[in-house]
Amino acid sequence: MESLKDKIDLQRLPRHIAIIMDGNGRWARERGEDRLFGHYHGVESVRDIVEASAELGVGYLTLYAFSTENWDRPEYEVMGLMELLVDTIRKEVPTLNKNNIKLHVIGDVQMLPDYAKEELKEALHLTSGNKGLNLVMALSYSSRWEITEAIKSIAADVESGKLESKNINSETLPKYLTTASIPDPELMIRTSGEYRISNFLLYQLAYAELYFTSVLWPDFRKENLYEAIIDFQSRERRFGKTSDQLRQEIKAESQNSL
Ligand code: IPE
Ligand code: IPE
Ligand code: MG
Repeated sequence: MESLKDKIDLQRLPRHIAIIMDGNGRWARERGEDRLFGHYHGVESVRDIVEASAELGVGYLTLYAFSTENWDRPEYEVMGLMELLVDTIRKEVPTLNKNNIKLHVIGDVQMLPDYAKEELKEALHLTSGNKGLNLVMALSYSSRWEITEAIKSIAADVESGKLESKNINSETLPKYLTTASIPDPELMIRTSGEYRISNFLLYQLAYAELYFTSVLWPDFRKENLYEAIIDFQSRERRFGKTSDQLRQEIKAESQNSL
């Protein structure tokens, strides 16, 4: 079978892909099922996309699994999601290890129930030696929470003398974010036809290429990811410069490498 994978330039992969996995509830409703049914099927997509990213050689994949605001959903759904999460992590650790995938978590994990915290801690520990794909799960995450926490830590460090306020510059804040050791996403995908960021990596997405698709998350599979990457590769990332400047830079680089 022909795959879009063959059209991807493996030399120009996005180093970090971040995904807002949205549309599980609608997917279930279309089938006359409970919302949790959609979340269960969403896990299949997670497996597929993690596998595709590892196969391609993407460095970082961040998945927005649960937002700070999602705690306000009906208790039944929140509890169902927590159980699904713990169950999935427990079952997937051997596969993560087999594929050399290192798990990371960003978010306000203190909010998670104790059994979920324990399971996560264990999974982080068991995958900590892996050197392949970095899989970052955003759990109980919101950007405004993250930025507020970072500012509190900066204030505490200034107060204790660890940091001098005159030394605060554009490199300070990112070092205090939960993503301090993670490069900024280059491609951000949101499924389900919603065109918003929903409190996800507001600072880190400054220069990400945004890709929106109407496909609902439980239907999003490898070929959909390849399509997004091909689209990403067709874009000109200018970072505030002009097209002419970029062309000159590329020319200079290729002359230098001769
Ligand atoms: C995304 O699907 C998963 C989570 C937010 C946990 P939704 O549950 O938001 O599905 P829709 O948007 O209601 O269809
Ligand atoms: C964003 O989806 C959060 C996750 C995918 C985890 P939501 O479904 O919660 O976002 P809104 O409410 O439509 O903005
Ligand atoms: Mg949603």
